[in-house]
Amino acid sequence: MIVNSVRLEGFRNYDNETIELSSGINVIVGENAQGKTNFLESIYLLSCGHGFRTRFDSELISFDRENARVTGKIFSQEREQNIEIGLNRGLRKKILCNGVKKNSPELSEILRVVLFCPDDLNMIKDGAKARRRFMDMAISQLRPAYAELISEYARLYEHKRRILSDWREKPSLLEVLDEFSENMCRCSAKIIRYRAAFLKRLSEVAVPIHSEFSGNGEKLSIFYKTVSTVKDPFAPVSDIYYEVAEHQKFHREAEIASGKILTGIHKDELEIEINGMNARLYASQGQTRTAALSLKMAEREISFQDTKDCPVLLLDDVLSELDKKRQEYVLNRIGSGQTLITCCEDSQIRERTGGKIITVSGGKII
Ligand SMILES: Nc1ncnc2c1ncn2[C@@H]1O[C@H](COP(=O)(O)OP(=O)(O)O)[C@@H](O)[C@H]1O
Ligand SMILES: [Mg+2]
Repeated sequence: MIVNSVRLEGFRNYDNETIELSSGINVIVGENAQGKTNFLESIYLLSCGHGFRTRFDSELISFDRENARVTGKIFSQEREQNIEIGLNRGLRKKILCNGVKKNSPELSEILRVVLFCPDDLNMIKDGAKARRRFMDMAISQLRPAYAELISEYARLYEHKRRILSDWREKPSLLEVLDEFSENMCRCSAKIIRYRAAFLKRLSEVAVPIHSEFSGNGEKLSIFYKTVSTVKDPFAPVSDIYYEVAEHQKFHREAEIASGKILTGIHKDELEIEINGMNARLYASQGQTRTAALSLKMAEREISFQDTKDCPVLLLDDVLSELDKKRQEYVLNRIGSGQTLITCCEDSQIRERTGGKIITVSGGKII
């Protein structure tokens, strides 16, 4: 899939711009705070319906405007397709694919991206949340039904969190607690199946990449840790549900007493080992960065294998964070497929990649 052009109207610091892209490497250069990351974010938005630095869609609308529109012309499924996302303050966002209304998860059928930013380089050392985010984003793009499960789970979680924190003031809230817990268990069981399957693939693909990338055949291992009562995350969903519900029942009283949600897939962990040692605790910064790169490159590879179509790679300031050897590795690995790289003016990345240069200044393309 190739993004041929993007039109930004009232999006972040862009007033009205149309940006044509090359089907290979595109290098977006400019000083700080000119709109390089904003531009990548608009492409991310086209792939999943939300920004990557936002809590609310309204943050994407230019400060002085009431609405924004991002339109992408995308070559996908062997034809040019049109995605249009309209954002309005206080109204629901509107997504149109070729003029037909769609929901956010459906966008990934037309456009998938793999985003890599400097924060991702710390993915291995950060808390489990960073690794869950990586996993959720990767699976969501491949399986729209998973994205729906994750938002359903988040919705149930928020309700249950409020029941548990407010029941002392309003005891009647407890009447619906078990219903929410049960629905969360049903959701958890399905999510666990998806995560287990993805992590198996990730392991198959990322381990050889890491071994090659580390130069000395370092061994990466990936483990999935979920609710402790689940014996086999590949078992039928009905079996997993039973085990998750058992864990839930066991923690019910403690949840009510503590006012906290103590069980569920929001505590899942993707554990990484390098040469048999827990990478989060023992690996060097260089080793964990290499592992993070391997996971991201594997995400792109899996998406390609799964759909026979290369996702668009978005590298936000990440190359300038890497030493020469790792930069080289990433650039060599890009191979075919469309890539967008942001970097500052004086970096030599623009010359090294030979890509199309797009210069941004103050929300305008020069
Ligand atoms: N909703 C918005 N409306 C207008 N300007 C915005 C909005 N959100 C961010 N900006 C501006 O965009 C600029 C940052 O753009 P960014 O793409 O992150 O810069 P960089 O080129 O360094 O990647 C900042 O000046 C910020 O004030
Ligand atoms: Mg930036």
